Amino acid sequence: MTLAMTGEARAQAATGPVKVGFMLPYTGTYASLGNMIEAGFKLYVQEQGGKLGGREIQYFKVDDESEPAKATDNVNKLIKRDQVDVLVGTVHSGVALGMAKAAKESNTLLIIPNAGADAITGPLCSPNIVRSSFSNWQPGYSTGVVVAQKGHKRAMTITWNYAAGSETVKGFTEAFEKGGGKVVKDLNLPFPNVEFQALLTEIAAQKPDAVFAFFAGGGAVKFVKDYAAAGLNKTIPLYGSGFLTDGTLEAQGAAAQGLQTTLHYADNLDTPRNNAFRKSFALAYKANADVYAVQGYDAAQILAAGLNAVKGDLSKREALTTAMHKTTVDSPRGKFTLSAAGNPVQDMYLREAKGPNNEFKSIAVKALADPARGCKL
Ligand code: BEZ
Repeated sequence: MTLAMTGEARAQAATGPVKVGFMLPYTGTYASLGNMIEAGFKLYVQEQGGKLGGREIQYFKVDDESEPAKATDNVNKLIKRDQVDVLVGTVHSGVALGMAKAAKESNTLLIIPNAGADAITGPLCSPNIVRSSFSNWQPGYSTGVVVAQKGHKRAMTITWNYAAGSETVKGFTEAFEKGGGKVVKDLNLPFPNVEFQALLTEIAAQKPDAVFAFFAGGGAVKFVKDYAAAGLNKTIPLYGSGFLTDGTLEAQGAAAQGLQTTLHYADNLDTPRNNAFRKSFALAYKANADVYAVQGYDAAQILAAGLNAVKGDLSKREALTTAMHKTTVDSPRGKFTLSAAGNPVQDMYLREAKGPNNEFKSIAVKALADPARGCKL
């Protein structure tokens, strides 16, 4: 939607369906993440009788393939061709950076249901952009706090070489070294490569006290299995941001059992809100919810807060975005608010993989806010 509206456009802005454009990965290593986000979003809309702010919702979708080089073309299919009112996407930080630039330039509303790229709620922050997920710094930082508290001194990190990996590792290093530890070596490989063998050999040779990893989706399944197959799980404890074991436990099997990670969600949070959400998700999709489903569900809740405040009238743009930023989201993860930069301020949980669940162990960091470095609003 553009800033200046004709009378006709204003009338359309208050009637007819609100057009929501999903730009998500539906193929590749992050495909299941994209599908869970869409499922979570649609579940919340269904629970509201198919309407938000009194308006029907019409969906459009584009498979972004987690391919940053195609991000601008892909997002313009939704902005220019489909003329969506709201963009919802994406998973991959590199793709999300392209989306955020296009959303800023065209002043299209953007709700990010996963990608943690720090810059989006840092130097690129904007009133028309909010996140229902996390900044990459947050789960990295909270895991660093935990690993230092456990008394580990020398850690190695391993990840994919792109924004999510490097920023998560940076957050981990900041907290771990503040807590008295030292990161002795950072290992990485290109996204979405899964040839881990040479790097695992290097870990075995260096013998650190602990390893911190950021991987997600199909890559996380392979990494956790390879780490166990190399026998490293018996000698060097593996930690990760929770994406290492979220939505992946069934495929990882025994290799993931007992792994400790931190994240803003744990499957078995025993609250009425989480129990109702998981039941509703399981009934609708015959599958267990994961963190990605929660983030999709909460993206819809944030949109609902904006649309309810203006009774579905998209022309009341400032009131709409203000309401989105000011909402308290009654999330399955626990209630959270958004920072001035539009990023969740949320409890980070230490979890342990047990059977099919990432089980809550403790609060690793309470109400963790991203530092939003470089955001000027
Ligand atoms: C990211 O690229 O920001 C990302 C992808 C998967 C899980 C978490 C973060």
